[in-house]
Amino acid sequence: MKKTALIYWGKGGNVEESAKIIYGQFSPESIDLFALDEFDVNNLKKYDLVILGGSTVGAENWEDASNDNKWNEFFRTVQKMDLSGLTVAAFGLGNQVLYPEHFVDGLGIFHEEIAKTKARIIGAWPTEGYHFTNSDGVHDGKFYGLALDGDNEPEKTEERAKKWVAQLKQEM
Ligand SMILES: Cc1cc2nc3c(=O)[nH]c(=O)nc-3n(C[C@H](O)[C@H](O)[C@H](O)COP(=O)(O)O)c2cc1C
Repeated sequence: MKKTALIYWGKGGNVEESAKIIYGQFSPESIDLFALDEFDVNNLKKYDLVILGGSTVGAENWEDASNDNKWNEFFRTVQKMDLSGLTVAAFGLGNQVLYPEHFVDGLGIFHEEIAKTKARIIGAWPTEGYHFTNSDGVHDGKFYGLALDGDNEPEKTEERAKKWVAQLKQEM
């Protein structure tokens, strides 16, 4: 059986809530859910699919590699590993109303970092139904992964998660 790891950060807000909704789209025996601070990167290769989830909290948090962002720390570690053979997908929380010029920019950074590991990346997601003007998380008219707006459209998360997970299962 194919096994999935769902790893999210941070805790206690929209990211965690969305992670649990995505987790709920899998049968419990096929998926393990971790907050990033409880996941051992040496276990990555035990999984067929790894789903990473985070939020966009402003570029400065990402681009300064010396900064103590948990995802930066994670990617610095995994870049030394050869993850060819692993499949990775990402979801990102953002806010279209307050940050229409930078909606889910973090998905772009996830994509850039994952691409360095040679892992196969799946889960590109259509931009239809969202309202924003610009995003580093979009390429060729699609988000690099599932975009969610828990601040303005929490009622859409479950439906989006359901469709995205069905798509991931197909792409696997
Ligand atoms: C300081 C700050 C900066 C943010 N910058 C962006 C941004 O550039 N783009 C975006 O789409 N959302 C941005 N957001 C919105 C968050 O991504 C959104 O509120 C998300 O749901 C937060 O996840 P959390 O509740 O798990 O912390 C920002 C939020 C904060 C507090």
